[in-house]
Amino acid sequence: MRKPFIAGNWKMNTNLAEGLALVKAMLGDLEKLKSVETVLCPPFVSLQPIMDLVRGSSIYLGAQNVYFKESGAYTGEVSPRMIAGLCKYVILGHSERRQYFLETDAVVNAKVKAVLATGLAPILCVGETLEQNEAGKTGEVLTRQVRDGLKDIAVEKSVVIAYEPIWAIGTGRAATGAQAGQTIGLIRHTIAELWGGENADEIRILYGGSVTGSNVTEFIKETQIDGALVGGASLKAADFVEIVRLTEKIKQQS
Ligand code: 13P
Repeated sequence: MRKPFIAGNWKMNTNLAEGLALVKAMLGDLEKLKSVETVLCPPFVSLQPIMDLVRGSSIYLGAQNVYFKESGAYTGEVSPRMIAGLCKYVILGHSERRQYFLETDAVVNAKVKAVLATGLAPILCVGETLEQNEAGKTGEVLTRQVRDGLKDIAVEKSVVIAYEPIWAIGTGRAATGAQAGQTIGLIRHTIAELWGGENADEIRILYGGSVTGSNVTEFIKETQIDGALVGGASLKAADFVEIVRLTEKIKQQS
C-alpha cells in the first residue's frame, strides 16, 4: 500500500509573515488528516521558522530546489546539508527550473544523487510541453526524463515522482484523470524497468498541474495516482485542506 501524498509547492510566494500565517491557518485541520502524507514546500528562507511551527505535528516540509555540491564557492546556492534537518523532501527538476534556469536531465540527476546522499528524499518532476504532447511524444519525453533523472541510482523507495504536464501548470487547464492515470502507469512501467516491478509498485507518483478541490477527486480515483503536487491552490489554506481531505476520503474508499 502506498501512502497517499499531497505536497504544496508555494513557489516564489509568501514572505515569512505570510508563510507563517498560512501554516497557522491550516495546521489544525491538516493534523486531522493523518492517512495522507502532507508536505509543505515554502521558500528556503522560511523553512526554519515554519519547521519550528510544524515540529511535532504530522506535517512534513520540503524545499523547492537545491544545488548538487556539498559546499564551496557557489555564490547564492544552497546545499543539501544546509537544509537537512529542516525538511524531509526536495522538489527537483520542476519544469520552471528546467525552463528558466536551464536545468538539464544531467543536472537534475546530480541533484537527485546529492539529495539522496544527504538522507533527504527527492520529489522528481517530469512533464512534457504542449508541443511534445501534440506531436505524440509524451511517452518518449517522460521515459527519458525518468531514466536520466534516476541514472546510476539503485533502488530508492523514498523517491517520489511528480508528473506535471507543462501545459497544465498554472493554466487552469488540468489533464483529465484518465489521461494522467494512463501516463502515470507508463512512468511506473519505466521505473519497473529500472528497479523491478515490485519496487516500482511501492514508489509514489503524483499528478501536478492546476489541481484544485474541484478536480482532485478525478485524479485521486485513479489507482495509479498516489496524490498531487499542488501549486496555486496550496497558497489558500481552505483550498489546500480541502484537497487533502478529499484525498483521504477517496483513498479510504478504494
Ligand atoms: P499549479 O497547481 O499552480 O498549476 O502548479 C502546479 C505545479 O507546478 C506544482 O509544482
